[in-house]
Amino acid sequence: MKIYSLLVCTLGVLWSLASVGAEVSGEQAYQRCAACHMADGSGVPGVFPPLKNRIPEMAASAEGRRYLIMVVQNGLVGNIVVDDVSYYGVMPAQASVYDAKGISVVLNYLAESIDGSQLSGAWQAFTEAEVQQTLLGFSDKTGAQHTAKMRRELIRLHPELK
Ligand code: HEC
Repeated sequence: MKIYSLLVCTLGVLWSLASVGAEVSGEQAYQRCAACHMADGSGVPGVFPPLKNRIPEMAASAEGRRYLIMVVQNGLVGNIVVDDVSYYGVMPAQASVYDAKGISVVLNYLAESIDGSQLSGAWQAFTEAEVQQTLLGFSDKTGAQHTAKMRRELIRLHPELK
């Protein structure tokens, strides 16, 4: 009986780790992120940064798009400042859960559903191909430290994103 429940439990964990990719809706794909960033993307001040109303602005440059993709893939560590609030947290890498399609779906959900009313005509949705290309380009970068470096460079180039 014990072994049986252990097996069920293990299967449950394996299932929940199954890739978020094709066939999932944006809302489903975002569920995992919502545990920390909240369902409406508002975050928790000082603990989990807000994502609301930030993704389209970040996604307006090539370096911002690459940064967003790599945050989901590799996570992020170290001090960041968002809307004058300081965060010193660790976002775990999500690479084992989200494939390229899943990363595009979740970032598009944030921009198109959570920020829908804020979207300007300049918004360009992420595609699976774009994510794949970025992941290939950074395939030798596996740590959250690298994402932190990308962020510092992004803020240097676009101080308005701070
Ligand atoms: C376990 C909690 C947790 C989960 C789950 C999580 N994040 Fe994060 N996320 C964080 C933390 C903490 C930070 C800030 C890290 C730091 O302080 O360096 C962060 C930072 C970010 C940033 C950078 C924001 C900025 O202003 O640069 C983005 C983008 C992001 N997360 C998106 C996501 C997405 C999309 C998901 C789901 C695929 C997700 N996060 C899942 C905790 C989480």
